Amino acid sequence: MKSFFHVSDIGDLGVALEEARQVKATPYAWKHLGEDKTIMLVFFNSSLRTRLSSQKAALNLGMNPIVLNIGQDSWKLETEMGVVMDGDKSEHLREAIPVMTSYCDLIGIRSFAGLQDRAFDYSETVLRQFVEYGGKPVISLESATVHPCQAFADLITIEEYRKKKRPKVVLTWAPHPRALPQAVPNSFAEWMNAADVDFVITHPRGYELDSAFAGNAPVEYDQMKALEGADFVYAKNWSCPGVTDPAQYGQILSKDMGWTVDAAHMAVTNNAYFMHCLPVRRNMIVSDEVIDAPTSLVIPEAANRAVSAQVVMKRMLESL
Ligand code: CP
Repeated sequence: MKSFFHVSDIGDLGVALEEARQVKATPYAWKHLGEDKTIMLVFFNSSLRTRLSSQKAALNLGMNPIVLNIGQDSWKLETEMGVVMDGDKSEHLREAIPVMTSYCDLIGIRSFAGLQDRAFDYSETVLRQFVEYGGKPVISLESATVHPCQAFADLITIEEYRKKKRPKVVLTWAPHPRALPQAVPNSFAEWMNAADVDFVITHPRGYELDSAFAGNAPVEYDQMKALEGADFVYAKNWSCPGVTDPAQYGQILSKDMGWTVDAAHMAVTNNAYFMHCLPVRRNMIVSDEVIDAPTSLVIPEAANRAVSAQVVMKRMLESL
């Protein structure tokens, strides 16, 4: 595996889920693979789960992880080509990337969407430069439009907790005080469309996800109707993807607290499990009673981030 951005990069999902089960059962069985190998984990943005689970996965495989926080541990980096660098950014990615990859065998990148320029974000400008100038396998640790390690962990969690062969999975938008990227819902939709589940998306009008990720998944604008009979409820906020009106890209169109997932919402489901990628704003995205209920999977879901990361790194090491 040379890159991990999309569900297509992981191949057959049944095979990947079985590999995840084995990795979870015997995490140290492939410790020889990472001997004398180094992974660099580059963070342009904050992280708790991704940072820790990626390091844990690397250590389980016997690899040396190096973590770099751009702008804190390093110089601030310019990401756009052709600019006059007379601001506060001292180094360009064009030089920094080959330098960084000269010290490692694999590289993971966290680089959020700026939410200012849809074309810049949706062309994954930063991630593509790591592919082009790095020459080493690249993992998206949440880039402008995708968060595949999260979506793979979400699928592993659904596989572990499903009570029927083809569960109903609902992705619901929920309110948030700040404008957030679409990477998590994009990847969740992409992965659920490829999985053996009945997948439904619900959000207020204007929040339609890019069709490259939403595919043909049904969109139900009535949240309660969408949640009826759900086996898994996956809540997430995202800002306007700019599909119906590009001028609104990255904007907050609604803060309707009626979309907060609470007990009344869960009551119409099939005693559904609640999921969220974390970090989560309590009583904005989800009520305390729902996230604290025994049916909340947010902790096992986060724990599975180390499993999904380890499967991806294992495959990359095997193909070096
Ligand atoms: N879910 C997730 O990626 O968490 P962090 O932002 O803390 O890494």
